[in-house]
Amino acid sequence: MPAYPSNNGVLFPAPLQAKPFPMKKLRKAVFPVAGLGTRFLPATKAIPKEMLTVVDRPVIQYVVDEAREAGIEHFIFVTGRNKAVIEDHFDIQFELNHTLAQRGKDDQLARLQQLQPQAGQTSFTRQQEPLGLGHAVWCARDLVGDEPFAVLLPDMITLPGKGCMKDMVALYEKTGDNIIAVEECDPAETQKYGIVGKGDDVFNGFKLTGMVEKPKAGTAPSNLYINGRYILQPEVFGLLSRQERGAGNEIQLTDAMQKLMKEQSFFGYHYRGRTFDCGSPEGFVEANVAFALQRSDLNSDMADVIDGLLAEARPADKRRA
Ligand code: G1P
Repeated sequence: MPAYPSNNGVLFPAPLQAKPFPMKKLRKAVFPVAGLGTRFLPATKAIPKEMLTVVDRPVIQYVVDEAREAGIEHFIFVTGRNKAVIEDHFDIQFELNHTLAQRGKDDQLARLQQLQPQAGQTSFTRQQEPLGLGHAVWCARDLVGDEPFAVLLPDMITLPGKGCMKDMVALYEKTGDNIIAVEECDPAETQKYGIVGKGDDVFNGFKLTGMVEKPKAGTAPSNLYINGRYILQPEVFGLLSRQERGAGNEIQLTDAMQKLMKEQSFFGYHYRGRTFDCGSPEGFVEANVAFALQRSDLNSDMADVIDGLLAEARPADKRRA
């Protein structure tokens, strides 16, 4: 069994104790937001899909908040054409703030200010061609530099305060290396996702034994799918720079991670919270209902509204007496 030096130079065996230091702190997160959002046309003809709102916040705001809750200090957006409004959203709207202050709308102003990244905390770069998730992440290589980074896919959102990334950071601080969050899916749906192989439990996660992007039916190593949250070491950029094509003829992040597994450890974190896939109209509508029901200022009214609508929508023979 390998022995790892601890902070103060004392040797102890792995994996019972925390992993080798110095381990670089996780400070940066990458948000690949270049996707066209064709499943939401015509809504996304002029508006990025990441700016569609769940209750009263754009989808991307929830994902950035999840990263901030996990201690992330710098937010890197990989955008594309027609996505400039995302940059505006994370900027100060001076005229708006001024008007709110003049009208005494202090609550709204405070809410905006609370969500506002500080000067210098955001960076934007463009994925010039839609060549896949791996390519989008690779576009952030210079902005990330030689340090670990998180990736959060903006389609997947979690309920406020129940984010996945915070728990992943806690695991990372014990294991180092690379962490991928997974959830269970219907075994009939594994070909839609990246799927991992599960090894021994380590702390509150487990060792990954392999991964495959969109496996053919019947070949998946498990039903644990990659849910769009990653903590990665910068060495993955070297593998992505090979620009090798994988599933769907795209440059896949999963393929580069799978190659990196030969040199570095990968750990899985089984997220038990609820993820809403806002990349599909059904998931997006479901998120709106679920998030409204979570809001103390909306939930009592919303529950009645939903009950009423369900009663109207149900065929007469299925209605409760
Ligand atoms: C991407 C990843 C896949 C992951 C999925 C989660 O696929 O490549 O590994 O399981 O996101 O949503 P995409 O949805 O872009 O096809």
